[in-house]
Amino acid sequence: MKTGLNTLADRAAGAVENAAFLDPVGAGVARLLSPLRQNTLVSALLGGEPLGHPAHPAIVVLPLGSWISASILDVVGNDEHHDAARTLTGAGVVLAVPAALTGAHDWLPTSGSRQRVGVAHWALNTASLVCFSTSWLARTRGRRSAGMRWSLAGLGLSAVSAWLGGHLAYNQGVGVRRSNAPAAEESVETPPADLVDVLVGQHRALSELMRHVASAHGEERARGFLQLRRDLAAHEAAEQAIVHRLTRQDLPGGEAIATAREDEESKAAAALTELEQFDPDSDDFEQRFGQLRHDVEAHAEHEETEELARLQRDRGRDGLVPVGDTVRAAQAAALRRLVEDGITSFPAMVEVARDAVRSTPQA
Ligand SMILES: [Fe+2]
Ligand SMILES: [Fe+2]
Repeated sequence: MKTGLNTLADRAAGAVENAAFLDPVGAGVARLLSPLRQNTLVSALLGGEPLGHPAHPAIVVLPLGSWISASILDVVGNDEHHDAARTLTGAGVVLAVPAALTGAHDWLPTSGSRQRVGVAHWALNTASLVCFSTSWLARTRGRRSAGMRWSLAGLGLSAVSAWLGGHLAYNQGVGVRRSNAPAAEESVETPPADLVDVLVGQHRALSELMRHVASAHGEERARGFLQLRRDLAAHEAAEQAIVHRLTRQDLPGGEAIATAREDEESKAAAALTELEQFDPDSDDFEQRFGQLRHDVEAHAEHEETEELARLQRDRGRDGLVPVGDTVRAAQAAALRRLVEDGITSFPAMVEVARDAVRSTPQA
């Protein structure tokens, strides 16, 4: 049931989602922070892989808990508690660093509305961090009342920021691994999969496979990397022949959207071809694979927000069910050929996959 508060929150979130003036800031910050996803080990740690889910929501309670505890001591404590409140305020400032790094890691592959909400979340957190740092400084210089006021301002900003963070994770799905979502037990009620369901499901599966390749070693990594190249060759061949073609035909500005996606696909293909020259267990492979993983995830995000969402609005879900079926059939044919032919070079895989997709009826 919608309440007045829901409506207000929806409106506020909608205003941030549509704030296009945040895009240049988002692009600049993303460029600056992109190294966080380039090193496989750093990316795995920041992404919470040892935990099995993103680390950011768990880590943010450390600075927030410290700051809230300091404010409780401010309110209910006495003179003996000044030092403890100051220490907790400073501890929160230090603990905000891992919270910021894990959040930035999860935000990096986003684009469009999710990137904008992330920029607003980051800006509020930065302002809040300035307040708490000033509070710690004031408390250290013996100006306790000023310290308390700065802490209160910081808590207010943190509260708004935490709400935006919740919107990002729970409404916009940043950091959510959909492939781990419960299977559709109520399949009787589930409508047939459309093109968007098919491709989003594959993007999640590719993301999981890249995660596996990054964490595996030796033979297992080599096997995973071969499967990744086959899956990507089939996935992109079908997208280029069917999806991007549809985008060009049907969407206003479709030519530019499709060309931008194909440029990203060419860049990833070149990176995959280059990667084949390295020993999968070498440092060079690790470093380049981290960059490829980041680029492929960003590409998937761009397709979902800038291409698939628009196609779904334009054609409706029902209109995209047959397209999803055609894409699936074309990819299955391409994968069959790739396995039968046993090719291991990525440029050759691309040729075979394109040929198989072209031979699929209706593709
Ligand atoms: Fe693609
Ligand atoms: Fe894709």
